Amino acid sequence: MTNTLVSNRKALVASAMGEIKDYINNDGVTRESLDRVKEVVTGLTKETEMFGAAEFPIPSHEEIAKIYLITDDVGGDFSLYLISVLPLGPSPVHDHGTFAVIAGLEGDEENTIYKRLDDESQPGRAQVVEDYKVTLSMGDAIAFMPQDIHRIQVTSETPTRHFHLYGKGFEQQNDRLEFNLAEGTTKSVGGSMIPIDESRRVL
Ligand SMILES: [Fe+2]
Repeated sequence: MTNTLVSNRKALVASAMGEIKDYINNDGVTRESLDRVKEVVTGLTKETEMFGAAEFPIPSHEEIAKIYLITDDVGGDFSLYLISVLPLGPSPVHDHGTFAVIAGLEGDEENTIYKRLDDESQPGRAQVVEDYKVTLSMGDAIAFMPQDIHRIQVTSETPTRHFHLYGKGFEQQNDRLEFNLAEGTTKSVGGSMIPIDESRRVL
């Protein structure tokens, strides 16, 4: 990548993150503010040269997934990743305990979104049912409130390479829940099973 492209990418990420932080810090985490954040992250998916597979390669078969940290703030606030996953899955049904935006760059990631039916009064228990599915391809995006529940599965024959933005980074996501639909139970999980690759940090 040329030096110009590297400095343009840095400027782009700085300006996108500035906009995102303004929306969240001024308006809080709401469906409306997340819709605006979603527009900003979707804008990044147009920059296929800056975020190409040469710079952010797909995982090997052994790795299964690569999680490239693009930028974050102190304490993991506003963590933007480029995540590439082999055509495998599905993931466990989970929430993130923080807001999230996913936007497609390459490949197809099917998101199944779930509804919680119980009143959340019983720790460790949850009644959760499937609500709808949406597949994120290039230029598509979805936003999640902290307690929104989803599951992802790569449905393309090639790996996905998608942007994932979180209010708190994986290492700080200690309020995450995984849901066992058949048993009606929840389990608290932290962080990510996949190591975070910081070698391609942009900012
Ligand atoms: Fe997720």
